[in-house]
Amino acid sequence: MEEPGNNKTAAPRRRFLSFLWAGLGLAALAELFWMVTSFLRPNHGTRKNENAESVIHAGTVETFAPGTVTAFPRGRFYLARLADGGFLALSRRCPHLGCTLPWVEEEKKFVCPCHASAFDIHGDVLRSPAPHAMDLHPVVIENNVVRVDTARVIKRDRFKKDQVVYPKKA
Ligand code: FES
Repeated sequence: MEEPGNNKTAAPRRRFLSFLWAGLGLAALAELFWMVTSFLRPNHGTRKNENAESVIHAGTVETFAPGTVTAFPRGRFYLARLADGGFLALSRRCPHLGCTLPWVEEEKKFVCPCHASAFDIHGDVLRSPAPHAMDLHPVVIENNVVRVDTARVIKRDRFKKDQVVYPKKA
């Protein structure tokens, strides 16, 4: 049998616990709402940093002699300066199954260590099984500085002259 004093304290305690649960429920809902809106909201600050990091300042035009290939391990690409002075930024990822392509200087070609596909300095397929040319990254030359946007990948079947970026003539 309950003591008479207990009924008097049980009701306010029950009310207090109801308020507490309601408060906790509202807090959880508010947090959930904040998480969902944060996830959906475009985060311009982060994007800016990502973009800044993905654009590689390769160097001045004169840094790269015509007919050479320079590796940029951080950006995972090769900067090829063609014999006519134009530039191509070639992804080092093999278009067959994605192995990393080394440039073989003695043979003047990229040779895949996985299934022996080979590519010329333009990234064009010399030997299959690679199904198409090496991917490109956009190149921009401003104020004589070569910049490569590693966040953007240009897929292509084969090399075409209009893919080459040339320095502006002074
Ligand atoms: S991954 Fe390069 S040839 Fe297969």
